[in-house]
Amino acid sequence: MSSTKNIENSSFIGPDFYNHVAGKSMYIDDLPVAEGTAFIKIFDAHIAHAKIKSIDFTEAEQSKGVLKIFSYRDIPNQNQIGGIIPDEPLLAEDEVHFWGQPILLVAAESEDEAEEALQKIKIEYEPLPVITNPRVAFQKNKLLSTSRKFKLGNTDTSFANCKYVFEGTADTNGQEHLYLETQGAYAFPTEHNSVKIFSSTQGPTAVQRTIARVLGVGMNQVEVDVPRLGGGFGGKEDQASAYATMTALVAYVLKKPAKIILHRMEDMRMTGKRNPYSSDFKIGLDENFKIKAYEVTFYQNGGAAADLSPAILERTLFHCTNSYFIPNVTAIAHSCKTNLPPNTAFRGFGGPQGMFVIEAAIDFAAKQLGVDTSAIQEKNLVKDGDEFSYGQILKETEATECWQEAKQKFNLEEIKQRVEAFNSSNKFYKKGYSLMPICFGISFTKTMMNQARALVHVYSDGSVGVSTGAVEMGQGVNTKMIQVAAKCFGIPEHKIKLETTNTTRVANTSPSAASSTADLNGKALQNACQQINETLNNFIKEEFKLDELTTISFQNEILFLNEKATEFTWKNIIEKAFFKRKNLSAKGHYATPIIHYDKTIEKGHPFAYHVYGTAITEVTVDCLRGTYEIDAVNVMHDAGASMNLAIDIGQCEGGLVQGIGWMTMEEIVYNEQGKLLSNALSTYKIPDIYAVPKELKIEFLHTAKDNLAILKSKAVGEPPLMYGIGAFFAIRNAVLAFNPNSTIKYCAPITPEKVLMGLYNKS
Ligand code: MTE
Ligand code: HPA
Ligand code: MOS
Repeated sequence: MSSTKNIENSSFIGPDFYNHVAGKSMYIDDLPVAEGTAFIKIFDAHIAHAKIKSIDFTEAEQSKGVLKIFSYRDIPNQNQIGGIIPDEPLLAEDEVHFWGQPILLVAAESEDEAEEALQKIKIEYEPLPVITNPRVAFQKNKLLSTSRKFKLGNTDTSFANCKYVFEGTADTNGQEHLYLETQGAYAFPTEHNSVKIFSSTQGPTAVQRTIARVLGVGMNQVEVDVPRLGGGFGGKEDQASAYATMTALVAYVLKKPAKIILHRMEDMRMTGKRNPYSSDFKIGLDENFKIKAYEVTFYQNGGAAADLSPAILERTLFHCTNSYFIPNVTAIAHSCKTNLPPNTAFRGFGGPQGMFVIEAAIDFAAKQLGVDTSAIQEKNLVKDGDEFSYGQILKETEATECWQEAKQKFNLEEIKQRVEAFNSSNKFYKKGYSLMPICFGISFTKTMMNQARALVHVYSDGSVGVSTGAVEMGQGVNTKMIQVAAKCFGIPEHKIKLETTNTTRVANTSPSAASSTADLNGKALQNACQQINETLNNFIKEEFKLDELTTISFQNEILFLNEKATEFTWKNIIEKAFFKRKNLSAKGHYATPIIHYDKTIEKGHPFAYHVYGTAITEVTVDCLRGTYEIDAVNVMHDAGASMNLAIDIGQCEGGLVQGIGWMTMEEIVYNEQGKLLSNALSTYKIPDIYAVPKELKIEFLHTAKDNLAILKSKAVGEPPLMYGIGAFFAIRNAVLAFNPNSTIKYCAPITPEKVLMGLYNKS
């Protein structure tokens, strides 16, 4: 693996790196266990859809060490955890709707005793029909939310004028988050009927709100603290709330600390995953291969409750034309209710699912026309002034820049020739390549959520404490926050400590998600620092009797007046300001300007900006075995002015490999009864070091266009995942090089089994 940028150039190594490597960083399961802690085990449904005929836990409750068994009847207020739509009970009542749905909680003095009691619970079900396929659910009118339709121009009339029209289907499967740290929480009863919860969540406020609702207390009685996450990837944006609420319930009722940590197989069985989609497309082109019309219908597999699926559905529509301008679009999306665990956010949040379909449509058209897919892609890239189907007019686009630079830097012509030469001289190995452009909108699609706050204390010794609403989950946001504060104050990073994310210090936070955490919280933090700087500037002017025009700054802790160094340091000035009773704390606030969206007409300007890029992928398929290797992925990525190269390159590499996993090897399988068969790491294959492309280059585009990103360093968390889509098409192309009549479908993941079948089938 090599990155062309030198990591040594990067500014600052964050506070956690050494502790992570030494195994000293604390996760929920590392918190010291308090005396009297109740350990919770979940009794979950082992059937996907049924009426509960009877349930008997008298014997289990007598079991050694058991403190109490909780059913929905023990919930003080509402048995409801649905975030967007109130359609999800914390504990099942009379019916279960998915395999793995929590029914009872066993609280015991030890985990083993809780586990033993679980075995003594007796339950009888009356089975009900199970639906796992979203198209079947749609036919039966089982929908989780209202369907959505985006429309630009008129597809009906424009198809009639197209020289070429093609129709097809494209499917993507789910994806297991497989954060290293499984779902977990630890709750403590506190004074005045309150609770304090340590939670592994991306959404501390969502946890707080859910607990307040379930317990029937004010949000001010629930304190949520998040030290850090061992990964979230969207799987803890909403779904962490259930487990945190379970611990809060037990702690609140028993007045004892209560802890839950899911085992890996429980986590895989009980939690929802990336939404699978099944989609129909119709694409129309003119004689110059300009795409004139596109119709697409998405059937989203939402699972048994809405969770975040309605918001994910929306982002699928926002990204249904990826980085292409298409003047006539009709895009329809249905969120279908099935008997699977409620599916949820996963890096890209529905965007990747939408992008896969347009890429399939373009590829299908190219294959039918006998032209190179990249020729059609290139002709249709978005430019400034183009309009997306949802009404946003594009500005500061980098689509063409990234595409052209990728072609030149990574020498596309040479790749093409190499692949052709290889394929004509090898019978049982074939190579394929593909180009994958991306265009990802940055902001929560719900405008209201694009706000954040930060709290900054400058202590009297000059050290600084920073709290924001940002949750560190491995993406490096704490490092970036420290960089922002250090830059604002003009002091070294080591003077700044980043506190845990806590709802009593920073309230009403949006989840750390949508790749927007650094932008939103960073700008709120800048705002807080600016307030303190203003106080300090006024104080310095007063103290030194300076005139209004004097410029004041700190550079590496030294006070500069009119750009000249003085003998005073940050520490001196802070001490003096404190003695003169100045306010050295500030609360910052930020709300993204410009953005708006009107759902009633499905038009607006929902995104602060877009992130662009192009990946070129090269693969080799073993045509006797159906196995393949990713030879190279070269990426030209639009990072804006990256504020931390090491972090941003890491996000690109990690996202890309996670995308390759989704597209090629990660195969979630439920049987017809809705039971998860790929329920452990032995049956669910995720990328390991051997799946990483043998050559991997991430290059950042050098442009200095204006944008709303923090310090012009663009959001980087999710967009690179979509480069992985290129692997699907490169592998498919290699299959076609061996068997031009292959009927291999646009159905991801393209596993070695599917490749093998594709190599030898005939149309
Ligand atoms: N990187 C690591 N190491 N761990 C994670 O859990 N989550 C991803 C991405 N990168 C994730 C990650 C997802 S889904 C999102 S939305 C962003 O990080 C969230 O962080 P950001 O907003 O700071 O980019
Ligand atoms: N992205 C990620 N998470 C979200 C979003 C979004 O657009 N909206 C609500 N949660
Ligand atoms: Mo990321 S899917 O927005 O947590």
